[in-house]
Parts: sequence; structure tokens; C-alpha cells
Amino acid sequence: MNRIKNKHFETLAIRTQTEQTDQKEHSTPLFLTSSFTFDSTEEGAALFDGEKEGNLYARFSNPNTDEFINKLNLLEGTEAGIATASGMAAVFGSIFPNVKSGDHIIASRAIFGNSINVITQILPNYGIDYTLVDVDDNQAWKEAVKENTKFLFVETPSNPTLKIADLAFLGNLCKQYNIIYGVDNCFATPYLQQPIEYGADLIIHSATKYIDGQGRVLGGAILGKKQYIDVCYNFLRRTGASLSPFNAWVLSKSLETLAIRMDRHCSNAEVLYNYLESNDEVKQVIFPHGKNHPQYKLAKEQMKQGGGLVGCELKGGTKRGARFLNALKLHSLTANLGDTRSIATHPASTTHVKLSKEEQLEVGITPGFIRFSLGLEHIDDIIADIKQALAVSK
Ligand SMILES: Cc1ncc(COP(=O)(O)O)c(C=O)c1O
Repeated sequence: MNRIKNKHFETLAIRTQTEQTDQKEHSTPLFLTSSFTFDSTEEGAALFDGEKEGNLYARFSNPNTDEFINKLNLLEGTEAGIATASGMAAVFGSIFPNVKSGDHIIASRAIFGNSINVITQILPNYGIDYTLVDVDDNQAWKEAVKENTKFLFVETPSNPTLKIADLAFLGNLCKQYNIIYGVDNCFATPYLQQPIEYGADLIIHSATKYIDGQGRVLGGAILGKKQYIDVCYNFLRRTGASLSPFNAWVLSKSLETLAIRMDRHCSNAEVLYNYLESNDEVKQVIFPHGKNHPQYKLAKEQMKQGGGLVGCELKGGTKRGARFLNALKLHSLTANLGDTRSIATHPASTTHVKLSKEEQLEVGITPGFIRFSLGLEHIDDIIADIKQALAVSK
């Protein structure tokens, strides 16, 4: 692996590359092969035994997934990692192999709907208990710790209401009680925030979002301390939720432009926040670096920029919200985020539909809540689309 150490984020993202082959290609080729050959039975045995390092089967490793993970490790400042087939494979694959029957998990209530379902509906079938906590209530986090607490899971900013977890406080809590500290860093990306600095043991990504950045492929990654990654790796290589070489190739290429894309996502989001903030039609607007965010100070400390998402509630309730969404012409109505294309999502009926109405309200998902994922189109066109949809939907 051709790694250039001690360089800036952008340079690492571009110049961390699989060793050049005899063809002298400039850009990493796609290694579309399910297995790798051995020079002898002895070499095959040594590879299987772990005596010798190298590729043997694509469920275990592949030059494209290695490049993707090596690059992410440099960007997150972590020592080890594993690529997964999707973000959910990373969420499940980080928690499940690190806990056992009789253990207890503490998680923020404000996490992606499907991650909540894993913790509250799947893991209990294996004897793993849980407590959900309001992410901004430090006393509640402390009180949730039990003797058998093994894992703490948090997402910051959270999907979709952009709540902020106090990463340093939770890092200290986990250290004090010897709890494995998992942080879903999907919304911030390593460009805006590096949870390892706050003592995270495992950092989880849905690469489907900003890492791909163009709405093409599913993927995920778990990064962090080697002792925990080894456990995840053994679980995932056996159970098979590996990232495909093609998706790894796409995602590694995408990382080359992550910094420049994030700069634009974030600046577009800031302009939209300011526009909505001063608009009479808007009841509430949420943006981590917005002055009215309840955790504004914390978000400023933890995140280099405010991220590419803005949440809002329009005056006029659910019906007005629906009319507004239907009137959008440029924005896509879809459940993904972090794309070059601006997206408007209605979490109550899509990404978080599996939560009960009460559970939705507990994390701030009101029936009329809209999540904007700012794309890379010209900001004037984005604002013009929102302006016309506000007018039409009155
Ligand atoms: C914060 C967060 N984590 C994990 C996931 C799951 O990722 P994937 O859809 O790639 O499985 C999502 C998906 O929306 C997400 O928003």
C-alpha cells in the first residue's frame, strides 16, 4: 500500500493507493476477483494459518477494500478497520460480536430508526438488554450504567433531528466503567469530526451517504482499536457481510473528493439555515452550527463545520408539510442523504416510520418535520426551489 504519512486530510484521501501493478496504471484498477491464487500448497496453508499476510478470498480481503479501509483509517486517525456491505452491517457488526447474552447496552434514543430497531428488537432475542437515553441528558447517561453494561452506542449529529452527543463526556464515562464506546460518525464524516480524539473504541460509518456522495452504492465501515476490530473482523468474515470490490473501488475514489464536497455541502446548508431562520412560514429550523441549536456551543467545539443537513418544521402542520414537499421541483423526494443532489425527506413516514408516534416525538420527529440534505447544486437554485414551494403550498 502506497501511504503518504503526515500529510493533510485531502492529500491522504487522494494519495493513499494500492501498489501499482506492472501495467503502471495511474488510478487504482478494479480487482474483480472472488479468490486469489497461491504459488504452492505450502503458501496456501501459510495464508490460511495467518503465518503469512496476503489475499486469499474476497470475503476476507481484496486490494480495493484494503485501499478503502487504509484510507479511512488515516482519515479517522484509527489503527484498524473493516469494510462492510452496508451501514447497517457496520452498526450490527460492531455491536453484536462485542457483547454476549447477559450484557447490557446503553444507546442514545436519537439514532437512525433501523439502528434503534437492532438494539430494541433484535439484540434482546439474544439476551442482550438495553437502556435508551436522551442524548443531551448527561445525568441520564450516568444513571443508565449498570454492572453488566458492555457497550455504549451514540450517533452525532443524529438522524434526522441533528442532536449532538457530548463525545468527551461519553468517552470519560466509558473509560471509567470499562464500556466499549461506539460512535456512528456518518453525518459528520472524519472531515468534520474524529471521535477517536474523544476516546471512541469503534467508529461506524454508512458509506452510502457522504462517503459515496453520489447516491450510487451501499457500503459501510467499522474503524477503531485493533482489539475490538479483530472481534468484528472474525464475525464479519465468517458471517459474510463483506463489501464488494466494486463498491469499495467506487467508495475509495469518492473519498478523494470528500473534503471539497463537504465544504460545499456545509456552506450550502448554512445559507439554507439562514434563509429558513428568517422566514415567517417556518416554525422551527435546526442546524448544528445555528445559533438557536440547543447544543450550539458543543457542536461548534466538536465539529469543524455544521454539516450538510438542515431540519425544519413549517407553520401549518403535516398537511402544509406534505403540500410543500409535493411542490418541490429541484429537490428529490427520497430517503437517502449526502448526495450531490439536494434531497427533502419526511422522516415520520419514511426513515423512522418503524418507530411509534411516541418514540418519534421523543426524539423531536414531529409529523411535519422535514430533513433537507443539501446537495452541490448552486445554492441560488436550491433556495429558489424552496421559495417557490413555500409560496405554492401556503
Ligand atoms: C446515521 C446512520 N447510520 C447508519 C445507517 C444505515 O446505513 P445503510 O443504509 O448504508 O445500511 C444510516 C442510513 O440512513 C444512517 O443514517
